[in-house]
Amino acid sequence: KIPIIIDCDPGHDDALMLMLAFGSEMFDIKAITISAGNQTQDKTLTNALKILTLIGANVPVYRGEEKPLFRELIVADYAHGESGLDSPSLPAPGFLPQPESAADGIAQILAASENKTTIVPTGPLTNIAVFLQRYPHLKDKIERISLMGGGIFRGNMTPLAEFNIYVDPEAAAVVFRSGVPITMCGLDVTMKALVFQKDIELFRSLGNKSGKVAAELMDFFSIYYRENHPELEGGAALHDPCAVTWLMNPGIFKTKSCYVDVETTGELTTGVTVVDFYHVLQKDPNVIVAYDLDRDAWLDLIFNAVKNLP
Ligand code: BDR
Ligand code: CA
Repeated sequence: KIPIIIDCDPGHDDALMLMLAFGSEMFDIKAITISAGNQTQDKTLTNALKILTLIGANVPVYRGEEKPLFRELIVADYAHGESGLDSPSLPAPGFLPQPESAADGIAQILAASENKTTIVPTGPLTNIAVFLQRYPHLKDKIERISLMGGGIFRGNMTPLAEFNIYVDPEAAAVVFRSGVPITMCGLDVTMKALVFQKDIELFRSLGNKSGKVAAELMDFFSIYYRENHPELEGGAALHDPCAVTWLMNPGIFKTKSCYVDVETTGELTTGVTVVDFYHVLQKDPNVIVAYDLDRDAWLDLIFNAVKNLP
């Protein structure tokens, strides 16, 4: 099994990402750390505990940073609702988070493990940046960071900046400049990671609790996409599961190794991942950038994982 720590801000697509990671049985999930992003830290933490309770996952959960490194928090209530995970069938949280912070929790786990661990962030990168700055000697214990964020050619917060990077660009810059190998599933690929109504009905017909909740989460998320993205013709983009599916089967993605940095001071481009797609800077690549995927194979991985859950 692949040892991983997931850093997320549930969030509908984060919740589906968690279902995928636990249901796939391919991962040794050492901890879940919580970022503030789609909603405040209090809300994303509660949402994570609810989803983990639903699927019967018993892993340590760590509360993360309340705010970006230097900026005020921007939340995505317009897409994820007031709670950050509006959905009718979620249970109350059945357990409590750990006493340590996310960054300290990651450090304890990495220090104690013999093998390297992969980190999977699907929210703003604040916790990971705090960890890297506080524990630079533990950087080599990270196998890779497989993240959802950024993009080559497009944004969803500004014309070029994607939400997770835009919320905390300084943290993203720390991560992208860290020297840790990175895989980036940005909007180029995740806006092709679409679910349509007929897919949602398949999840609903699975007959387990998790299938029902997965369908309800996608129902909610689809409303935002139908209203705001007519070009997707009824499809809703499930961004965050991409960061996990790349680890499960990289062969279903099209990727290119590129040098990537993050703009933190641009007039029009703050929060942009600047991807040297054509290698014009002649710098060594630091990121495997995903830009396309086999949607059917990707959806099968999620479907089969949710089938395995309670
Ligand atoms: C990202 O922003 C969040 O709203 C989603 O959960 C995803 O991580 C997409 O830009
Ligand atoms: Ca997210």
